[in-house]
Amino acid sequence: MVRILLLAVAAVALIGGGQGANILGLFTSLSPSHLIIQMSAAKALAERGHNVTVVTVLEPAITHKDINLIQVPLSEEDTEHMSRVFEKMGKNNDKNMLFAMFRMFGHMRFMFHKIADALKDTRVRDLYVNKDNRFDLVLSGFALNDYQMGFAQKLKAPVIVVATLPPSPLFNYLIGNPEEPSCVPSINDSVEKGKGLSFGQRLSSYLTGIGYKVFSKMGEIQNKKAYKEVFGDDPHMPEYSEMMKNVSLVFFASHAISEGPIRPNVPGVIEIGGIQIKDTPTPLPPNIEEFVGNATDGAILLSLGSNVQGSHLSPDTVQKMFNVLSKLKQRVIWKWEDLDKTPGKSDNILYSKWLPQDDILAHPKIKLFINHAGKGGITEAQYHGKPMLSLPVFGDQPANADAMVKKGFGLTQSLLTLEEQPFREGIEEILSNPTYSQAVSTFSKLYRDRPLTARESVIYWSEYVIRHHGAAHLQSPLMHMSFVAANNLDVFALLAIILVVFLLLTKAVIKFIIRKLSSKPKKVKKQ
Ligand SMILES: *[C@@H]1O[C@H](CO)[C@@H](O)[C@H](O)[C@H]1NC(C)=O
Ligand SMILES: *[C@@H]1O[C@H](CO)[C@@H](O)[C@H](O)[C@H]1NC(C)=O
Ligand SMILES: *[C@@H]1O[C@H](CO)[C@@H](O)[C@H](O)[C@H]1NC(C)=O
Ligand SMILES: *[C@@H]1O[C@H](CO)[C@@H](O)[C@H](O)[C@H]1NC(C)=O
Repeated sequence: MVRILLLAVAAVALIGGGQGANILGLFTSLSPSHLIIQMSAAKALAERGHNVTVVTVLEPAITHKDINLIQVPLSEEDTEHMSRVFEKMGKNNDKNMLFAMFRMFGHMRFMFHKIADALKDTRVRDLYVNKDNRFDLVLSGFALNDYQMGFAQKLKAPVIVVATLPPSPLFNYLIGNPEEPSCVPSINDSVEKGKGLSFGQRLSSYLTGIGYKVFSKMGEIQNKKAYKEVFGDDPHMPEYSEMMKNVSLVFFASHAISEGPIRPNVPGVIEIGGIQIKDTPTPLPPNIEEFVGNATDGAILLSLGSNVQGSHLSPDTVQKMFNVLSKLKQRVIWKWEDLDKTPGKSDNILYSKWLPQDDILAHPKIKLFINHAGKGGITEAQYHGKPMLSLPVFGDQPANADAMVKKGFGLTQSLLTLEEQPFREGIEEILSNPTYSQAVSTFSKLYRDRPLTARESVIYWSEYVIRHHGAAHLQSPLMHMSFVAANNLDVFALLAIILVVFLLLTKAVIKFIIRKLSSKPKKVKKQ
């Protein structure tokens, strides 16, 4: 009933109000995975009929024909530098994200300058200098570059931040989301079901929170500098700290109900986890549909990404994989670039250069997804409830694969040391033991059960902010409170003073009474 009501509300909201608005997306992050999520949100708004203009530094992998894209590309030298940085980031594989971030601070300074350069580009400046441009909403992609929200100030438009992680101390300050370290574990930590946080977890959560505060302060210094650099020529611009109190909402790429952590959130937290995945799959190309649809024993999708294929897949490994796969009774769709030189012919294998991976994973006949543990592929398989055999090679792949195995969604083996027997046994284990598919399909059901899909949430809440010219009415008072007030330190201090005064008074009174009592009998003795 509630669901139907919410859907009705959503339908009405989708029909009325905020149509054809001018929306500006500032997606200047130098991380391709950030850009995928941010562009997916922009795409949802463009498909809805809004006039979306997007500023990026990288070439986006996802876009829409109606999006006006302003790309301010990096120089070749800088691109090389960044790919080295990301490679290093992947390799370090830090147990603690906070340590990783502190280590990355030097690189962050580099990114800061590159983003500032992009914002100073004449085509980008023209967005606010040219008075003919009117924007109803600014979406600011989070990359520790808060100062770019000065654009919203210039354009007198409300701003929504698009973050690419769950709510955490890294973002809470944007909208006054509470920290609650006693019941919210630190970012890279999880709590066992039906248990509270142990002393160690609370301590780690508390200290991590402080670590993030220090990190944020360091970031703020950089941000203030960049804010002056980009907007300093305008005396009408508010102080940086004032400007920062003006975020309407934050879109988070998470879904706490299924993924955790369970934590209190202010209403400005809007979760759009899975935005990069289509709500309803597009019909498959006829040859793939027929191949998968006819598979009486189910089908397997094998895709190792294009990076792996070229440089890391030895002919020997390919032969071993083919030997195993060609003997299965399941059908196999194998993503393979060079169709003139396939690993071998077999009736149960279909090679294809290009695959609509998301749509294939949605097919009910797909029983297993063999992948290279890229984040995108794992997310899609989790969304569609398909168990996985991950064959990671480098970068963040081994960590992604380990996290997937820990959740019980499948198994992992190294591609570089792949042997026929363990490969076959791994496949057979996942296909015959139902625990993997059960675990991932339970997750998938929870993940997809929402009053509004990720796409609908982006549209609804963007139009909400446009309709009401911001969302000051749902701002947390925490945004206007000092550290002392936010943590009730003054209240504790007052209570402590009262307690001390009370104790001192009690002590004095008791002393007085004792003196009275003990002095009386003395007098009696003397008499
Ligand atoms: C869309 O936005 C761009 C950028 O502000 C603007 O130049 C263009 O005129 C807008 N198009 C429409 C149809 O409003
Ligand atoms: C906050 O944003 C609104 C538009 O939503 C704008 O009118 C106002 O000047 C901004 N205030 C500050 C302090 O940035
Ligand atoms: C933290 O993250 C790393 C890699 O992402 C992972 O291996 C590790 O298990 C995580 N730690 C906890 C406590 O979850
Ligand atoms: C699928 O089945 C149909 C008939 O049910 C048959 O005509 C077609 O050849 C089959 N396709 C494949 C790829 O086996």
